[in-house]
Amino acid sequence: MLVNTKEILDKARKEGYAVPAFNITDMQSIMTVVKVCEEENAPCLIEAAEGTIKAYGTTYLAAIAEVAARKAKVPVALHLDHGKTFEIIIQAIRDGFSSVMIDASQESFDENVRLTRQIVDIAHACGVSVEAELGHVGVGSQAPTQEDMEKYLTKPEDAKRFVELTNVDFLAVAVGTAHGLYTFEPKIDLERLKQISETVDVPLVIHGGSGTPGLEQTPPLGVSKVNVFTDLQIPIRKKVKEIIESEPLERLTAVRIWKTANEAAEPVIRDYLRKLGASGKA
Ligand code: 13P
Repeated sequence: MLVNTKEILDKARKEGYAVPAFNITDMQSIMTVVKVCEEENAPCLIEAAEGTIKAYGTTYLAAIAEVAARKAKVPVALHLDHGKTFEIIIQAIRDGFSSVMIDASQESFDENVRLTRQIVDIAHACGVSVEAELGHVGVGSQAPTQEDMEKYLTKPEDAKRFVELTNVDFLAVAVGTAHGLYTFEPKIDLERLKQISETVDVPLVIHGGSGTPGLEQTPPLGVSKVNVFTDLQIPIRKKVKEIIESEPLERLTAVRIWKTANEAAEPVIRDYLRKLGASGKA
């Protein structure tokens, strides 16, 4: 059975390690992530973003994750990443996701509180935990200006108030990372992270894990979940291209292409589990 994400992350925060949350895209990618987590004896956090939900829907994804969890030797939780609409979040809760993210990070502080609070009330009544984002994590293709940093980085005093007002279970913070490939040198603001973790005691979440140096320094500063997508896609894309270009057409089958390509991400999954300290913590 899927476990509540809160169980996995509260333990991580208490024991000072972080669990990488891998953005999965389908059954094969779920199976690949679960397999490596089992080999590493690590808790397994898989998450689905909007594009994946649009392609396959919450019902299929939850059913596949549920089977994976039932067969796995390690705890498995399924999280909704960047839930932007009420409808998608409610569907995920109804279909058995372990946790949901309500992303109202581009709204005002008060509106973010209101929207998060609404989801927290519903999700908690269903035994589902909730992540929200305060401040805003941008995209790596756009280097932030000084003005962006002042506007978007999470302010420690706001974080405290936000958690008190919303009763949210995990807080995603903007501390210098960005989603996707970086076109600038990212630098995690460790001092800011330290201040935030001293004012709030819920597990903190870093988005945009891919390509970010210094992630291993963040678990002692309260970070318990690090989201990873792009670093998984890089070896998968390369492998697809390699197989297609090197194999005769008649040998190509969907299973051969896709299973092999996904397995090319295994070393990356293992590396994140080890460097964040999740290996051996199942
Ligand atoms: P990356 O693609 O940069 O790893 O970001 C993933 C993420 O934060 C998903 O929410």
